[in-house]
Amino acid sequence: MKLRYFSHSAFQFTSASGKIILIDPFITGNPTSPVKEKELNAHYIVLTHAHGDHIGDAFSIAKRCGSTFICVNELANYCASKGFKAHNMHIGGGYNFEFGRLKFTIAHHGSSTPDNIYGGEPAGVILSIDGKNIYHTGDTGLFYDMKLIGEMHSIDYMLLPIGDNFTMGIDDAVKAVELTNPKIAIPMHYNTFPVINADPYEFKKKVESIGKRCRVMEFGEVIDL
Ligand code: NI
Ligand code: MN
Repeated sequence: MKLRYFSHSAFQFTSASGKIILIDPFITGNPTSPVKEKELNAHYIVLTHAHGDHIGDAFSIAKRCGSTFICVNELANYCASKGFKAHNMHIGGGYNFEFGRLKFTIAHHGSSTPDNIYGGEPAGVILSIDGKNIYHTGDTGLFYDMKLIGEMHSIDYMLLPIGDNFTMGIDDAVKAVELTNPKIAIPMHYNTFPVINADPYEFKKKVESIGKRCRVMEFGEVIDL
């Protein structure tokens, strides 16, 4: 499986079977994105919540590619109301897709669409693809149940926000890594806008100081998981 990071919370997974899954594809209007919306393709688009910096370019990509949305019920219904294919799920539920398993977790945040429609509860997501478990926390504050998530799922890669203001900042994110105990932590949701400026290498240093591993991905970088 390949993982590509586009900055903010936007990632692309490509499974060994060639299925492309995008999460929170915020590209247009994202000053840190290294790609244009037209360069992206997706079989599936996962949205952690309805905020504009997470829905991003999802509709234009889905229109061009015929992608299927995977979201919590209210947000999936919103996507379906725009004419898109959607798979409705909710927090605590998992489902075996053709690319692997996907399960939604809690996240402490908000979720209304840019046109102010309630988007259901915000969520995190655990993807199990090609034998690896990846936990994308979505936008969230720190919560103690991350310990339970780590105990239940043996997380290989944890993608988590460090930008503060709207989400966890660096110190809370380090605690989140301690609680979840992933093999490798990857920071996200920072430096997109001045209000969420944070130094990912300060985060890395602090994660390593508690005996854990961190990988800072460059914006646009692809890694093999
Ligand atoms: Ni948000
Ligand atoms: Mn956000």
